[in-house]
Amino acid sequence: MRRGRFIAFEGGEGAGKSTQAKLVANALREQGLEVIQTREPGGTPGAEAIREMLLHPPGNGWQARAEALLFAAARADHVEQVIRPALEAGTWVVCDRFLDSSRAYQGGGGGLPDADILALHRIGSAGLLPDLTLLIEVLPAEVAERLARRDCGLADAIGGRDASFHAEVGAAFARIADAEAERFARIDGNGTLEETHWQVMQALAPLLDGNP
Ligand code: TMP
Repeated sequence: MRRGRFIAFEGGEGAGKSTQAKLVANALREQGLEVIQTREPGGTPGAEAIREMLLHPPGNGWQARAEALLFAAARADHVEQVIRPALEAGTWVVCDRFLDSSRAYQGGGGGLPDADILALHRIGSAGLLPDLTLLIEVLPAEVAERLARRDCGLADAIGGRDASFHAEVGAAFARIADAEAERFARIDGNGTLEETHWQVMQALAPLLDGNP
């Protein structure tokens, strides 16, 4: 049986990843593929419990190292229980965020060395990488407008960090995508849902043809 393909969506807050992940999962199903749509942090009961601790932390919250370890632990559970078994069974996996979010948020935003985040991923998930990572990029003014509509001032512990943190996150995503261009597609997310979805499907075409 042919191994499934692993597709991840990445980007800052309000980029529209979740909506695009859903549209892609449906489009792939319409082509007759078995597809699961999942998210990080989350995707298993244990990882969803860690998500709750990360986004609504007890006490004074987590410092960057503890936060990175918790994300890596949630990812390890998700990879072992859901992602690897699905890929081995020939199922495509569409995941809203993966390792590059840790590199951008805990690395770029939180100041941890990229090599440390990669080491945690090696330990937790044997270094699994998506076949294709779609980085959705949106201009800051458009993001601010979308977040005001989405969160109504009730952002979580990470989404609610200041603009300079999120600027570092965006810069880190761009740096990683430039340095590892062969596994990324950069998508302009400023247009309509349909325009963005069209670009995403174009980027996926080589995987569907079977020659990435
Ligand atoms: P979400 O809102 O896209 O579901 O993601 C939850 C938050 O967690 C978002 O602010 C990004 C953050 N995050 C990290 O900081 N590191 C990670 O590794 C992941 C997966 C998410």
